[in-house]
This record gives sequence, structure tokens and C-alpha cells, in this order.
Amino acid sequence: MSIQNQQKKLTIGLFGFGVVGESLYRVLQETPTLQASIKKVCIKHPEKKRSAPENLFTTDPEVLLSDSSINVIVELIDDADAAYYIVSKALSERKAVVSANKKLIAGHLEELIALQKHFDVPFLYESACCASIPVIRNLEEYYDNDLLQGISGIVNGSTNYILTKIFDEGKSYDDALLQAQYEGFAESDPSLDVEGVDAVNKLTILLAHAYGILAFPSDIVHTGIQNLHSADAVYAKEKGYQIKLLAQAKKLVDGRISAFVLPQFVKGDSQFRNVQNEYNGVTIESSLADRQFFYGKGAGGYPTASAVLSDLSALRYDYRYEYKKLRYGLPAELTDEVYLRVYLSFDKLFQVQNERFERIEEWSSNERRCHVTGVIKFAQLLDTSWWKKPNTSLILLPDAFVTDVTETARLAEEELAFV
Ligand code: HSE
Repeated sequence: MSIQNQQKKLTIGLFGFGVVGESLYRVLQETPTLQASIKKVCIKHPEKKRSAPENLFTTDPEVLLSDSSINVIVELIDDADAAYYIVSKALSERKAVVSANKKLIAGHLEELIALQKHFDVPFLYESACCASIPVIRNLEEYYDNDLLQGISGIVNGSTNYILTKIFDEGKSYDDALLQAQYEGFAESDPSLDVEGVDAVNKLTILLAHAYGILAFPSDIVHTGIQNLHSADAVYAKEKGYQIKLLAQAKKLVDGRISAFVLPQFVKGDSQFRNVQNEYNGVTIESSLADRQFFYGKGAGGYPTASAVLSDLSALRYDYRYEYKKLRYGLPAELTDEVYLRVYLSFDKLFQVQNERFERIEEWSSNERRCHVTGVIKFAQLLDTSWWKKPNTSLILLPDAFVTDVTETARLAEEELAFV
């Protein structure tokens, strides 16, 4: 049953009644103009007390998937494997699908794009990236590939919340993480947040809509805030910096894209500095407009539900992603050929070999902690055995990209001299 035939009335089968699912249920009750109603909710734990009529719930996914009167499946569960089954089955039943599951989408993007095309149904997931910030539709609709010079953003609310609590309120890492979980910002497995996996899943999705790049999250260099050390906070304070976890994609002079998720020191004049707690912020750089900054809540029930609601609203006029950058013109390519300015701190002298660096700019050591700053070839980060060790933290310096072409060429020439 297509949505057009139903004159844009949406009958929803909802999977998941956690923080976001329950918020959506409430919001829909207060938004009668949308003409969208939830017919059934599939849950995993029937024993939990729910604040909705009992007959709304089932534990059998097929009740929703085989109900021909349900024309939209909204998938808001945290199990990416179960979500894969639900989403692909729903699309093959020609139901429109709205999902917030970044792990599922990033891990199966190519296949999910093919399914949408084959069954000719919309699959929308604005809530999967930066919750309340409409970044996917902006990248898809507004920015032409040629003009888009880069995207960088705080895309994970939990880690930003934790960093804020540590730096501004002096809380411990463990307390801050517990609070992020309590507030409903963190993933069920919070290591996905703190190790940068959630952020790299979001970056993978953004790369497809910004540049037509279909990448696997595991192939993109990433880390989180798990290895940050109190000495890094001291260094940041001395320099007047803050530490933020940033997902970045930057177009280089040859048109290829450098992409990664790494912590970075940000200066006082950076827009990211004012992004605190669970808020996200995304800077989009384009040739003509220069820089634009998007800011909003990036985690939590209602902010995420607002993006789901926006997707539901878009379904009423049968909106679908066209994947313009993939379909028209040549998709961009990822590259490792870039140099970055980094700070690296570690416990023991000689733990990090100097030859990892093209150039060392600053060196400091005492019996408790050592750090170096300098220029590194990005390809060095593909080997994670040295910089992701538990007692080692790597943080990008502000203005991390070594963009000067002559300097880059000179560094390449000098490389042998360091080995
Ligand atoms: N755990 C995610 C975050 C939820 O903290 O950003 C929103 O995607």
C-alpha cells in the first residue's frame, strides 16, 4: 500500500520504546496535524512498565511487518543486527522506513541504497546524524559537490557532555559517563560513544551525502576520548585550548577527501568552543559561502524524536534521498596523503619512536608524563598499534592540516632523512 494511495496518512509500526521511541509516541499525540498514528509498537522486554496502553505492544516483529495497513516502519532499537532484518524486510514489503540507527546505516549503506531503489520506497534517517540538526538533508539538497570544501563537527553528544563535565565542572571521567548514561544520551554500550565508533558511523553517513563516498566505518581512522589524560587537560589549559572530539572530512587541492574522527584542541575563537554538553555543532565550508555553522542538541529523546518527526513529515510528500553525489558526476575518493600537526602524550620515554614524526616541534618530559608535538604523515595513523595504546593520547593541534603545498612537498622529500 503506497503512501500516495493513502493520501499521505501515515500508519506507523514502531520498533523500540526506549528514550527516543517514547518521546516520539508523546510528540505524535501532540501533533495531530501530521496525520500520523502509531498502530503497533514492537518491544523486546514486555515485563517493563510502559506509559502507553498495553494493547499497543507486541514482541513479534512480524505483526508489524506483515500488517498491510502499516505503511511506515519507524526503527528506533539499539541492536544493529536486528535492525538490519527489520529495515530490509520492511523495504522489501514496500513500506517506507525511518531509522535512527547510525550503526546499521553506516555498516550497510550501499546495500540499503540498493534496496530503496529496487523496491522504490523512501528510507530516511535524519535523526541518525546530530539528532536535531538537519545536516543530512542540507548536504543532500543544498550543497553542490564542487563547492563543498569540508565538514567538521562535534557529532557525538555523550562525549561532548563528558568533556564539558570534566573541563568545566571538574567531574571525574567515570562520573561524567554515568551521568551521560542516566540522561539517556549514551548508547546502550557506551564504549561506542567514548571510543569514537558512534562518531565514525555518523561521519560515514555524512561522507555519502556530502561527497558520494561509500566507505566502511572500520576503514576510517578514528578514536574517541578514552585515552585522554589529565596531563592533556593541563596542556590545554596552559595554551587556552579546549579538547573536542571532531569528525572531519576535508577536500584537498587534488579533489580527494581526507576523513577521520580524532580529538582536537580548539582555540578560544573556534565555534566549537561554545558547543557544550550534549549539543552538537557542524561547520560546513564551501567555496562561495565560506563557513556555515549548524548548532543544536545532538542526543536525547526529544531532539532525536524531532528529527524522526521531520522525516515522517517529509514522507507525506514522498520525499526520498536522491544520493545526488553518487548518482550524478563522479563520487569523490578518500586519500591518506595528508600531513597533520598533532600532540602526543604518553607515559614512558622512548614509548614512541621519533621516526613516526616528519618533524618534531616541541618536546617535554618528566617522570609522570611526556609529550611531543609535530607533523605526522596521516598514513602513520593507519597503524594503530602505537597511538591507540592505553597510555597514549593523540590530539590534533588547532589548524591541524598542513595545507601549504610547498611545505608538504618538502616534508615528503625530507621523509627519508628521518627514517
Ligand atoms: N549516543 C549518541 C550520542 C546518541 O551521544 O551522540 C545520538 O546519536
